[in-house]
Amino acid sequence: MSHSLKNPSSGENIFKPAKEFSKNARIKSMAQYQRMYQESIEKPGIFWAKEARELTWQKKWTKALKWKAPYAKWFVGGKLNVCESCVDQHLSNGRANKAAIIWEGEPGESRTLTYRQLHREVCTFANILLAQGIQAKDRVMIYMPMTPEAVIAMLACARIGAVHSVIFGGFSAESIVDRLEDCEAKAIITSDGGYRRGKVVPLKKNVDDALKKYKKIESVIVHQRIGSEEAPVKMKRGRDFWWHEQAAQVSSKHEAKAFDSEHPLFILYTSGSTGKPKGILHTAGGYLTGTYATCKYIFDMQDDDVYWCTADVGWITGHSYITYGPLANGVTQVMYEGAPNFPDFGRFWDLVEKYQVSIFYTAPTAIRAFIKAGDHFPESRDLSSLRLLGTVGEPINPEAWRWYHSKIGGERCPIVDTWWQTETGAIMISPLPGCTPTTPGTATLPFFGVDAAILDETGQEVGPNEGGKLVIRKPWPSMLRTIYGDKKRYRNTYWDDYPGIYTAGDGARRDKKGNFWITGRLDDVLNVSGHRLGTAEVESALVAHKVVAESAVVGRPHEIKGQGIVAFVTVKSGIETSDTMAKELREHVGHIIGAIAKPDEIYFTPALPKTRSGKIMRRLLKELVASGTVSGNITTLEDHKVISDLQEQLRK
Ligand code: PRX
Repeated sequence: MSHSLKNPSSGENIFKPAKEFSKNARIKSMAQYQRMYQESIEKPGIFWAKEARELTWQKKWTKALKWKAPYAKWFVGGKLNVCESCVDQHLSNGRANKAAIIWEGEPGESRTLTYRQLHREVCTFANILLAQGIQAKDRVMIYMPMTPEAVIAMLACARIGAVHSVIFGGFSAESIVDRLEDCEAKAIITSDGGYRRGKVVPLKKNVDDALKKYKKIESVIVHQRIGSEEAPVKMKRGRDFWWHEQAAQVSSKHEAKAFDSEHPLFILYTSGSTGKPKGILHTAGGYLTGTYATCKYIFDMQDDDVYWCTADVGWITGHSYITYGPLANGVTQVMYEGAPNFPDFGRFWDLVEKYQVSIFYTAPTAIRAFIKAGDHFPESRDLSSLRLLGTVGEPINPEAWRWYHSKIGGERCPIVDTWWQTETGAIMISPLPGCTPTTPGTATLPFFGVDAAILDETGQEVGPNEGGKLVIRKPWPSMLRTIYGDKKRYRNTYWDDYPGIYTAGDGARRDKKGNFWITGRLDDVLNVSGHRLGTAEVESALVAHKVVAESAVVGRPHEIKGQGIVAFVTVKSGIETSDTMAKELREHVGHIIGAIAKPDEIYFTPALPKTRSGKIMRRLLKELVASGTVSGNITTLEDHKVISDLQEQLRK
């Protein structure tokens, strides 16, 4: 059992890992963490070289790091094939017949791929790509549902040195075009469709629509996921090929050639402050080392674990913590195709019980949805196989943290709240589950080799509990190498604030113990009467109220205070909203944070506008409260009706 201690000064709960957990964990004590952290910061080259040596290299590097800000080269002169560490090595280390991926489709079918089978599939697909004329450094777009073939496609690209760019299956044809144009892809790998909430997402059809605008695609390889009238597919002769037909024509043997450590591995698009997505470029050796080491230490992956990361491969979390990191560790993982609430909110817990998941990694937004759905879902399943929980993507509000800890983790599982970004490639700030005391809401301490700090506008480190910009002062192996095709934007976005220092774009504060509290994107930080206030803080306060399931807070110009606070609130099912309740919530926020944080306006809404990946689209809410309407690109919005309903409410 992890036990909690009341911290008398702050009233916050501190959770310490249970002795039984620590005993078997890789990092067992804070003293061990501190010693290793110190060494990793003083001699990063030595620390990271030790980690990298655990991977498969065909030629050893001559220098661990070459740094000429803002450009890093890791493991200079080294040569490797990323696929060998993720797949081939397991054929000779006793894991050949171990399950690599246990997949469940949304309708309920299940499939297991051992490392040996995964190897055969990856080699076969690598040969298919080669037969299509794909060469090293060519860009290949992947637009697939959550099936093992998505992972196979990524690994096969890596194997032949092609650069994959995965697009989340929830993105529209328009978004595909933008990305295709930016990276000038030569081929697309897709599926006839995928299941999501009982419906078929017509992926190939979206690709066809995109290809009416982008003409440089030479081949489209289509995996048959659905194979029925539910997903009718038109194949264009000479351009479109069925995966299974091609597989029948090529060999399942492929020898992995080595590429330079700095060979491009993938481009992943992420949103920036402008409308144009940024193509974040990661390279082979450093990225693999970072994802491998973080899985090993933060998820404490052991040979008998069953690990499940609920992210989609279309996001960085799916890249780092489904495909590369876990496979390089030789773990068994669960992969699930569909929605958490199909057929109901018990689905995730059914999967945990069925496959005896021991490490579970998900997003706070999902946790809040589960809270709203009701405790009976997890309570009616056996979740005793779980030993470690993780969260990622946004600050987790203490209420959600506590619910996760008690209802899912049975108060026995440590929770790792992992802070990182598409750009950082791997987790940067997180508890280590066997040693770090955690308090709900903080991602705690930097990972090995991560020189994180919080700076003020002048570049000085701020004092305890003062807010500032979160930065990383030293290069790390899995850092982005550039924004594809836009070096200027790379410099402007990340390196211009302080010379030689990476600016993450997040606001944060550090408490007296050194724990990092991420307050959210700096563009979401409000300044109310001269006080800095994270929208995340106000949201967390609102969500701490018993009627609130979820909330989003944005700023609005205010004559006197500079910025006023507008809160959008979703209440738990079955609860009636009223003006009195709005008043009560204002008081409640005032009570938790201080009068300064009381929202000026509260709007109740049955749902918040979200991207299909579950991120709240605050940009839309800001625009809505500022102008009463939404003009920008809303192609990534999950449910368009949410916006029109809110617009109506604001008009009234
Ligand atoms: O604001 C931080 C937030 O998500 C941003 C990165 O988003 P993305 O590149 O899409 O990657 C998400 C998955 C790594 C960060 O700048 N963020 C991510 N994790 C956390 C977080 N904020 C607070 N706590 C976290 N654990």
